[in-house]
Amino acid sequence: MRVAITGCNRGIGRAVALALASEGASLLVHARRQESLDAIVAEALEAGASQVVGVLGDLRDKSLGERMAVAGFETLGGLDAILLSAAILGPMVPVAELERHALRQALDIGVVAQVDLVRPLLPRFVAQGHGALLWMSSGLGRFGLPGYGAYAAMKHAVEGLAKVVAEEHRDDGLISLAIAPGLVQTEMLQAALGTEDVSEHQTPEETAQGFVRLLRALEPEMNGASLDIGDWLS
Ligand SMILES: NC(=O)c1ccc[n+]([C@@H]2O[C@H](COP(=O)([O-])OP(=O)(O)OC[C@H]3O[C@@H](n4cnc5c(N)ncnc54)[C@H](OP(=O)(O)O)[C@@H]3O)[C@@H](O)[C@H]2O)c1
Repeated sequence: MRVAITGCNRGIGRAVALALASEGASLLVHARRQESLDAIVAEALEAGASQVVGVLGDLRDKSLGERMAVAGFETLGGLDAILLSAAILGPMVPVAELERHALRQALDIGVVAQVDLVRPLLPRFVAQGHGALLWMSSGLGRFGLPGYGAYAAMKHAVEGLAKVVAEEHRDDGLISLAIAPGLVQTEMLQAALGTEDVSEHQTPEETAQGFVRLLRALEPEMNGASLDIGDWLS
């Protein structure tokens, strides 16, 4: 399996990269700092990955998508799936206090940059005749909670994009789906919950096992679905 993952230096992206590496997958890993990228490339190789290619860049760098597509299709020789994990929580304020520029900055990363990543991949997936786009959603892509205006806007957009791409490529052999990972012990969850103890929630490693099972079980009928990784945990 050849999988591209964004945000591999920490959190869910890192855990999925290492879980897939231990299964011998070929990986395209992304991070925005050279030191972190070098570290995850080395860790993934040590964990057993067949091949690991690293791509550096901030999500707001317009060239990132094309560079990832070239690395995936030319250096790895093709990609079976991409997991769009990297994202931000954004400003945690009531909508009445949500500043225009703060919302725009959040949407730039959570929505515009995600499309920038997918755009150069789509024609390559189509030419290849298959390819899975795993858009990282959240419960907040399906409902709302006070203070999560920017985050819910990003994740509802991601859910919509997953479904639209699914329809646009229904006859191309592609699978586009939105996945909510549940509550996972990462820096993002801690930032969202403040001082609340997050240790009862899923670990990134448990979550990653769910992603590995899902990736192994991908089938055309899943195109356009909104899934919960909880259904893929043992
Ligand atoms: N944790 C949860 O409970 C939970 C629940 C529902 C959904 N999710 C979703 O799951 C995904 C992963 O979340 P997580 O909990 O693993 O988050 P995390 O620990 O905060 O990690 C976020 C990742 O995104 C990267 N990133 C953020 N902004 C970036 C930018 N501008 N350019 C490049 N990389 C950037 C970070 O890199 P840096 O280290 O360089 O900042 C990091 O690798 C996200 O889409 C999140 O919304 C998480």
